[in-house]
Amino acid sequence: TKKVAIFVSGGGSNMRALVSDMSGDHPARPAVIVSNNANAGGIAWAKEQGLQTVVVDHRPHGADRAAFEAELTAALAPHAPDIICLAGFMRKLTAGFTDMWRGKMINIHPSLLPKYKGLHTHARALEAGDTAHGCTVHEVTAALDDGPILGQASLRIHEGDTAEVLAERVLVLEHKLYPAVLRRFAENDRTPVIL
Ligand code: GAR
Repeated sequence: TKKVAIFVSGGGSNMRALVSDMSGDHPARPAVIVSNNANAGGIAWAKEQGLQTVVVDHRPHGADRAAFEAELTAALAPHAPDIICLAGFMRKLTAGFTDMWRGKMINIHPSLLPKYKGLHTHARALEAGDTAHGCTVHEVTAALDDGPILGQASLRIHEGDTAEVLAERVLVLEHKLYPAVLRRFAENDRTPVIL
């Protein structure tokens, strides 16, 4: 069984979807939930579930990303994860960290990559007049929201959709896509999941 570390910064709804799926015949189990934010809702939920949690605050390190990442690495060590899932983790990771986890770290992003890397993806899709939108799970590389695509789920944008409405509709897809991709990934199957 593969051991999975899940990184969250906020509410952690994707983390919950992943954890809920990891039971029975699933090829992986949650090993630890990691956050840069002690107040992340995801951390409170994980503790309630009796999962291991660790908070590594980025703020004391200021602009020193290498020092933050060294602390992340040290915090992970006792849990010996095989896979890292970024699930709404809102810190950029440098090559120093991504190279160590190359091929073992995946991320979910709320757009149909390669469109709309970075923030405000729903507003940007609306602004562009797109008719399709969705989410992507990809392997993490040093380049932000880049790296081989492991799965995508898409929806139609409706007349009158707002960024908030789209965010909610995409999030529902995220909760289906991410667990589906993790199952394959944990079995070393990189065939893209298309929903
Ligand atoms: C999700 O929509 C995720 O795709 C996005 O943040 C949200 C986290 O929600 N991630 C990013 O924007 C990464 N740059 P959650 O905490 O409820 O899973």
